[in-house]
Amino acid sequence: MTTILVVDDEKSMRDFLKILLKKEGYSVETGSNADDALLKLQQNSFDLIISDIRMPGISGLELLSNVKESYPEMPVIMITAFASPDDAVTAMKNGAFDYISKPFNVDEIKSVIESATSQKEKTHSREQLSDSFPGIIGRSREMLKIFDLIRRIAPTPANVLIYGESGTGKELVAKAIHMNSKVESQYFIPINCSAIPEELMESELFGHVKGSFTGAIGDKSGLFMEADKGTAFLDEIGELTPIIQTKLLRVLQEREIKPVGSSTIKPINVRIIAATNRILEEEIVAGRFREDLFYRLAVVPIRVPPLRERKSDVPLLVDFFLKKYSRLLGKEVQKISSYALQVLMNYDFPGNVRELENIIERGVALAGTNIILPESLTLTPQPRGQQNTIENNDLELFLAVHNEQELFDTGLDYVMTRLEKRLIQHALEKTSNSKMKAADLLQVSFRSLRYKIKKYGIG
Ligand SMILES: Nc1ncnc2c1ncn2[C@@H]1O[C@H](COP(=O)(O)OP(=O)(O)OP(=O)(O)O)[C@@H](O)[C@H]1O
Ligand SMILES: [Mg+2]
Repeated sequence: MTTILVVDDEKSMRDFLKILLKKEGYSVETGSNADDALLKLQQNSFDLIISDIRMPGISGLELLSNVKESYPEMPVIMITAFASPDDAVTAMKNGAFDYISKPFNVDEIKSVIESATSQKEKTHSREQLSDSFPGIIGRSREMLKIFDLIRRIAPTPANVLIYGESGTGKELVAKAIHMNSKVESQYFIPINCSAIPEELMESELFGHVKGSFTGAIGDKSGLFMEADKGTAFLDEIGELTPIIQTKLLRVLQEREIKPVGSSTIKPINVRIIAATNRILEEEIVAGRFREDLFYRLAVVPIRVPPLRERKSDVPLLVDFFLKKYSRLLGKEVQKISSYALQVLMNYDFPGNVRELENIIERGVALAGTNIILPESLTLTPQPRGQQNTIENNDLELFLAVHNEQELFDTGLDYVMTRLEKRLIQHALEKTSNSKMKAADLLQVSFRSLRYKIKKYGIG
């Protein structure tokens, strides 16, 4: 059970916090001044201190420095008056974990306390961090699974296909695999398949000999030769044209290349890591990607999940980027206010980690004090619908759990009607029967929803 020491000279404030925190399941002790608090600290063990700044006798700030000396790991949250933001800044500079200002916003108090206590757990489990990879931040179950996979497959020669939305960290994963591999050469040669025009692609990959086409003024070795005995990273592999796909497949099968305009065949020994933000299985179905090439590349497939599927990594990433950009921009922004963090936790990050990085970079640049406040976060408003798009996978799932023949026997109209009715019922449940809100959720007009409710005899 988390034990909190509340220090305030005002009895009403102590009582208020005590009741509030007890209701949240914390064990609470109170002290009416700093001396009292220091005594209690010697007698009991606490996980967290919440202290007023302005108190007669020893001030809250002095208490803070006292505590930081004897209990450097103890998170201290300071209570400041809304009217004196300077106090907040001083408190943060002196090592306060965060501050809350009077008058209180109950949600804010809760979230500050939560992050203070989870921070403490984090420092306790720091030694476990060694199972991650340098430069890739993440402790979520999803990322730990990826780390585990990297560790297992990196030393093998297997080709790897990394897929996931833009900005999820695919290139970092590719580098981590290379760094932990047993390839002889240290070369990790990336090539961006979407950035090179088709006419040049073949020569970029396999090289050419002087004079083989206009502009070929000398011999060129190409990606595969340069990456020989090392790793070739084929980024945006989904953008390869059919012709190049066929040529690449041949190279992977034969393990040899023939530079453009040359008649000599050269053996190659390259580990291939490919990445794409497309779903290649869908590209195959659509006839845009060769299935045989897919299987050659995706001996080991790794899906890097979007950030919204691993929100627990957001605080760690924020910390990491805060340090990075404070250093780069020569500022001392070491913290993000709990409220700002909460805003980020509720955000969808269509641009994934790259977007979070940009948000923090701007936040650091804009921050007027040493803490990032919600005002300095620039989030892109999300168009409706986009965030609610049913993924093809979900439809696949629907088909998978239903007997296909039964669905056909039932007929499209009936299936769709049932689905519609069920979705409307669900929306009504979610909105406690508010037709207005349900219509909003379903993105239909109120009238149309009312009509359907009547038609289906719902409710
Ligand atoms: N887990 C992470 N820890 C630290 N930084 C990360 C992490 N994931 C991504 N980044 C950073 O986010 C940015 C985007 O990452 P990266 O280029 O690897 O993404 P990507 O999946 O290859 O994106 P794209 O599909 O757009 O090429 C980089 O600056 C990278 O350093
Ligand atoms: Mg990339």
